Amino acid sequence: MSDEKQQLEAIRDSFEKEFDRFSDALKDGFRGMKLSAAEKLAKELGEFRVKHTGKKSPISGAMKLIGRVAPEQRADFGKTVQSVRARIEGRIAETEDSLKSYIRSAKTKREAVDVTLPGRRVRSGHLHPMTLLRHKIEDIFVSMGYAIEDDREIETDHYNFDALNIPVGHPARESKDTFYTTGGFALRSQTSTVQIRAMERRGAPIKIIAPGRVFRRDTPDQTHTPVFHQIEGLCVDTDITMAHLKGTVSEWLRRMYGEETKTRFRPGYFPFTEPSAEFDFSCFKCSGTGEFEEAKCGTCRGSGWIELGGCGMVHPNVLEGCGIDHKVYSGFAFGFGLERMAALMYSLDDIRLMFENDVRFLRQFY
Ligand code: DAH
Repeated sequence: MSDEKQQLEAIRDSFEKEFDRFSDALKDGFRGMKLSAAEKLAKELGEFRVKHTGKKSPISGAMKLIGRVAPEQRADFGKTVQSVRARIEGRIAETEDSLKSYIRSAKTKREAVDVTLPGRRVRSGHLHPMTLLRHKIEDIFVSMGYAIEDDREIETDHYNFDALNIPVGHPARESKDTFYTTGGFALRSQTSTVQIRAMERRGAPIKIIAPGRVFRRDTPDQTHTPVFHQIEGLCVDTDITMAHLKGTVSEWLRRMYGEETKTRFRPGYFPFTEPSAEFDFSCFKCSGTGEFEEAKCGTCRGSGWIELGGCGMVHPNVLEGCGIDHKVYSGFAFGFGLERMAALMYSLDDIRLMFENDVRFLRQFY
């Protein structure tokens, strides 16, 4: 055998030997191969193709020898070179095709969507139960002609106490009850502060409610949190009497809890109102009977009444302090806490739930 033919045999042998590493996987159609491994193999196969068929490959070298072979052997040699080349290229192309289609189907499998699976529910956000309750109350008062007033949470002692006729030495002023900032400002301990600011700004007549956060130095427990919500109401006009106050509070509670709801006033004391009262309403659970399902009602503890807030006729000192002539105008005010209402409404035994933002709790109010 001529040298050239031997050389060709050697080229083919070395190709076959090196190709071995692909042939097993090819035989199995790459079954079970990981996508990443298949992609790596495809890259190696590309390099392998360059090495065995590229310009610098042994077979390309052999092509160049064709011209140098003796003329009588040239045709035969040329044929052999072509067939070796065809074999090499064919094996590589076959492997590439098969590997490519394997990769394609592996990718399709990975990205496949099972259209028969049920969809995942998208939960949309919703209002906090405290906000829902506030809106309900606001809607009722707005329908009675009240405007909604909002004001600052950090106040001076003047607005938090003095202007509300709370004398120096009154227990509410003590720093063990009120939060003070380093600059001597108070975090408002009641929304009654908004009465003052609103009267100063707008004068009389005025009809507002002021919902907002208030702050007191209470240790958190089931019924106390150092931050909570109040709604303040204020109505000042000519000839306003306690009957208007009773009528307004009664009407609001009837719209809140139903037509049959009754309201009762008990004598009370607040520095900013005179006379003052505390107001209760008949229990919505036992309809004021004190009994529910043949046992003592748990909502009103058997009394038939639920205590809600304070109210009264605005003290002349308060009106005058805001520049309103108490001989011309009179007014009533009331205030109550929202957490207590929410706790009773939703039968919560711990108002801290309202502040923890645990979505398992909040979701129930969707
Ligand atoms: N500010 C009172 C409190 O925090 C509630 C209150 C009582 C408000 C009587 C009033 C009122 O406007 O007239 O307990």
